[in-house]
Amino acid sequence: MNGYRTIIEPFRIKSVEPIRLTTVEERAEKLRAVGYNLFGLHSDDVLVDLLTDSGTGAMSAEQWAGIQRGDESYAGSPSWYRFEAAVKELFPFRHVIPTHQGRAAEKILFSVIGGSGKVIPSNTHFDTTRANVEHSGAEAIDLVIGEARIPSNQHPFKGNMDLGRLESALTEHRGKVPVVFVTVTNNSGGGQPVSLENLRATRKICDRFSVPLFLDACRFAENAWLIREREPGQHERAVPDIVRDMAALADGMTMSAKKDGLANIGGWLAVNDDELARRCRELLILTEGFPTYGGLAGRDLEAIAIGLREVVDHDYLRYRLRATAYLGEQLRAAGIPIVEPVGGHAVYIDARALCPQIEPLQYPGQAVATALYLEGGVRGCEIGTVMFGRRPDGREVPAMLDLVRLAIPRRVYTQSHVDFVAEVAAKVAARAPQLKGFRIESEPASLRHFTARFAPL
Ligand code: F0G
Repeated sequence: MNGYRTIIEPFRIKSVEPIRLTTVEERAEKLRAVGYNLFGLHSDDVLVDLLTDSGTGAMSAEQWAGIQRGDESYAGSPSWYRFEAAVKELFPFRHVIPTHQGRAAEKILFSVIGGSGKVIPSNTHFDTTRANVEHSGAEAIDLVIGEARIPSNQHPFKGNMDLGRLESALTEHRGKVPVVFVTVTNNSGGGQPVSLENLRATRKICDRFSVPLFLDACRFAENAWLIREREPGQHERAVPDIVRDMAALADGMTMSAKKDGLANIGGWLAVNDDELARRCRELLILTEGFPTYGGLAGRDLEAIAIGLREVVDHDYLRYRLRATAYLGEQLRAAGIPIVEPVGGHAVYIDARALCPQIEPLQYPGQAVATALYLEGGVRGCEIGTVMFGRRPDGREVPAMLDLVRLAIPRRVYTQSHVDFVAEVAAKVAARAPQLKGFRIESEPASLRHFTARFAPL
């Protein structure tokens, strides 16, 4: 499609799901009923659902065909061997351990290598990763580069690890760090990519301290595409080769196939270390299942195996990253502050900048997210003080940023859906100075954003 300005969706639609717009009054009532927590809504009452890109993608005709082919043998199913081969083609780790989703891989890994007294650095841990680290008794620390703290900063790789801080952390906590994690792309920090150069340098530091390096690789293909677009010397390369370069720098990975597996469920843990693999498989059998299916059905393994080949296709990735950038351009044109430059799977509205009148501890992200739903039935997700503000010791502190993530499900929405979202956001932005914050009425002990109830101030 060279020579054309329009980058089209490289697929056509075979099966459709109706969506419907409710009235403002209905949405106001529904918000009250769920304590202003968008996770509590019936998704039938959402028009454009940008809550997450996780497990919400559309599968291809090939994947549906694979679902039919799925072999449900308890042990040694051909579907497992196809899955394992597809994973190893991109991530040639010695051991692949299938799980029902990413956090199951995290739970197993941190149960084995975490524990009290341990410290686990990352560029930025995602919420479930942080929660699993902390649940094991270990401490999770985020060491992303300083540029990531400034939403308007245009650094091309705002997911990069701060190498100086990593070195200091490894020196300070010598002997207590069982693994260093790098999240690609950096979801909590704006879907921002990590460069190959930064991964290489991180690897070098890990080697000096004899600490293994793991990838949280949920959005590996989007990260690889952004490397191809933004990193000097990478422009002509094939994405699968870039992915293999990323994998070669690591000793293992956790993965949610609900993102760049292009599947609705699934994940895995992969490691090179034989003894670590043995201990993880023991836990796998206890909590997930036999090592040739983990937490998955044979049909899921097929869908993921096929998804992994489709997700590294250049036409797909060009469209995918363009669609995200397009939403970013529309919001920017409406004068809405967003995390720059636009990353992989989502556009992040800088709610703290949009609503400076709302203190972080009154949750500007929650105010903007609920306003988007009220205005146009668009559901986004607060990624800020609601999600990260409660520390394990009980203190409440402002998160680094207060964002609203508009995550784009893969292959689901068309350009006119995106245009509509931008219109809704523009209307919300026009009355942003009048928006008010929230207080929390009730919250659970951890991962409070899923079930907390709010009251408007
Ligand atoms: N790591 C990252 C970077 C993630 O974004 C997620 C999930 C996980 C791990 C856990 O994977 O959901 O399969 O257990 N992120 C979703 C999101 C939920 O909305 O960003 P999971």
